[in-house]
Amino acid sequence: MHEAIKNFIRPHYQGMDGYVSAGMETGKDESLVFMNANEGHYVLPELQGYNFYPEPQPLKLIELMADAYGVETSQIVATRGADESLGLLTKIFCEPHKDAIVISEPAFGMYAVNADSAPVKTYDVPLIKSDDGFAIDKTGIIAKAQSDDVKLVYICSPNNPTAGSFPHSNILEIVKAVDGHAVVVLDEAYAEFSQQGSLSGELQNCPNLIILRTLSKAYALAGVRMGATLCDDSDFIDLMKSKVLDTYPLPRPAIEAALIALAPANRAQIKQNIQSCLAERDRLKEFFEISELVTKVYSTDANFMLIEVVDVKAIWQHCYDNGFVLRDFSHKPETANCLRISPATAELNDKFMEVFKAYKLA
Ligand SMILES: Cc1ncc(COP(=O)(O)O)c(C=O)c1O
Repeated sequence: MHEAIKNFIRPHYQGMDGYVSAGMETGKDESLVFMNANEGHYVLPELQGYNFYPEPQPLKLIELMADAYGVETSQIVATRGADESLGLLTKIFCEPHKDAIVISEPAFGMYAVNADSAPVKTYDVPLIKSDDGFAIDKTGIIAKAQSDDVKLVYICSPNNPTAGSFPHSNILEIVKAVDGHAVVVLDEAYAEFSQQGSLSGELQNCPNLIILRTLSKAYALAGVRMGATLCDDSDFIDLMKSKVLDTYPLPRPAIEAALIALAPANRAQIKQNIQSCLAERDRLKEFFEISELVTKVYSTDANFMLIEVVDVKAIWQHCYDNGFVLRDFSHKPETANCLRISPATAELNDKFMEVFKAYKLA
């Protein structure tokens, strides 16, 4: 394994034996009768097949993901959403009561929640806020990562909840500067919507980089719980599969849905759906830009946007009372008075705009 990763893995993972499940020993040749895994053979006819444990990492799924994300099959592990991977990475790299992670607020909440539950420390190097939006504090992150307890640096681009991206050149500068000090987890949950696309093509030049992807956003499959972790180092991917993941992590129905979503025959439709979503995002953005209730619309490179409004609690309530649920981010100081909105379909967005417009200023 590359030192840029290996040196940060908690020592007990190096020596530990992983669990070898019955399915892993033999595979699932359908001509055989499997009596080795305590599975049930009396099953409702309409649920035939679900009586057997799924393949831990189905080859077809991994091939389709590798194709979609531009990596080799050996550089990818599928997880129950990107969320599962966030927890696993904390477990792999951070020694409870000792180590730390770096995040940049406003950040996706699960980074700190996973750190708190380990528990490990969270250092915040906040995004730099200006009239142009939120920028990443390169120097601050690089300086913080020198600290001996820091094992993981989280960067999310496009960032949730601010919606903008950070230039790839800035991210790569951080990744290279912290090599030998920490592993960078680049959360690309929204990369398919981004003008910049993904940094997965740089994995081979960045041994300390791990990238997270998901089917929840661009593929509109949040209910399926399917994500992917990418790393150049196939030994690290093997470690995740053999020692860290649950035995049969991916439910059969989730695998089936993911195979449909990623099938080459559906690629054009998925692309079209992304474009439709972006068109609706832009339509809402233009609407907000001329609304007297909105004091700022932040730039977006994702399928959602952050807006600052005149009376955040009352507007949120007004929308809710009329059937539209937005996310209130006013509890965080950097996003005081802010709401986060992801567009629905054109027809629903029309109705939403009518509702929003109908709010009466006091
Ligand atoms: C930045 C970011 N990362 C990860 C996730 C979780 O993704 P998943 O649904 O794949 O668990 C989300 C979900 O909103 C997110 O916004």
